[in-house]
Amino acid sequence: MDFLPEDIEAYANRFTAPEPPLLHELNRFTHTNVLQPRMLAGHLQGRVISMLSKMIKPDRVLEIGTYTGYSALCWAEGLSDGGRVDTIELDDELEPKIQAFFDRSAFKEMITLHIGNAMDVIDGLTESYDIVFMDADKVNYPNYLEKCFDKVKLGGYIIADNVLWSGKVTLPHEEMDPDTKALYAYAEQVQRDGRLEQVLLPVRDGLLIAKKISA
Ligand SMILES: C[S@@+](CC[C@H](N)C(=O)[O-])C[C@H]1O[C@@H](n2cnc3c(N)ncnc32)[C@H](O)[C@@H]1O
Repeated sequence: MDFLPEDIEAYANRFTAPEPPLLHELNRFTHTNVLQPRMLAGHLQGRVISMLSKMIKPDRVLEIGTYTGYSALCWAEGLSDGGRVDTIELDDELEPKIQAFFDRSAFKEMITLHIGNAMDVIDGLTESYDIVFMDADKVNYPNYLEKCFDKVKLGGYIIADNVLWSGKVTLPHEEMDPDTKALYAYAEQVQRDGRLEQVLLPVRDGLLIAKKISA
C-alpha cells in the first residue's frame, strides 16, 4: 500500500537528496530478488534515517531487523569516527545477500551483522547504544523496549518503525490483529514511561522516536 498520496510522495522524493548509488542498487536488487520488498525502508525513509544519524552522530547503533541491509547502511552514514552499527536478522538465508552489499560499501568495517533471533542476540550484546532502531517482529516491540532500555545511553534514542501499521492502530481495539495490538501497546508503553520523551512522526508507516531522558 502507498503511505502517502502518490503525487505527494513523488514531490517529497524529488526534493530529497537522491539515494546513494549502492543503496539504489540494493533497492532494485531487493525488489527483483527478495520476497516482501515492501519491508525495505526505501528512498525517502532511508534519507530520513541517514539525516537523523548525521544529526546525532552516534558512536553505536543497534538495529533490530536487517532485512537486506538498506537501513543499516543509512544509519552507518552518520556514524562518528570509530562508530559502529550492530544489526540483527533472524533469516539466515538473507545473510550472504546482506553481507555482499555491506562488503561493497564504505562502511564494511563499521557494520556487524548478527544472524539470530533478536530476543536472544540482544542479551549477548555488551555495548551501550546511542540509537536503537526497532524494525523487526512487531509483537516483540514491547519486549525489545524492556530488553534494550538499559543498553541505551542517557540522552540516546529508541526509534521504532511501522508504528502506524498502515493506519490499523486507529481501529477499535477488538478489531486489531496481534501485531496491531502490540504496536498500540508499544506506543502506550513509551507514553507511560516517564524516563522517555517521544514524538511520533507520520513518515512513511510511522516512526516513534523516544529519547531517554532519565535512567
Ligand atoms: C521490516 S524488515 C527490516 C527492514 C530493514 N530495517 C530496512 O529498512 O531495510 C524486518 C526484518 O526483521 C526480521 N525479523 C523478524 N523477526 C525477527 C527477530 N525475532 N529477530 C531478528 N530479526 C527478525 C525479518 O526477517 C525481516 O527481515
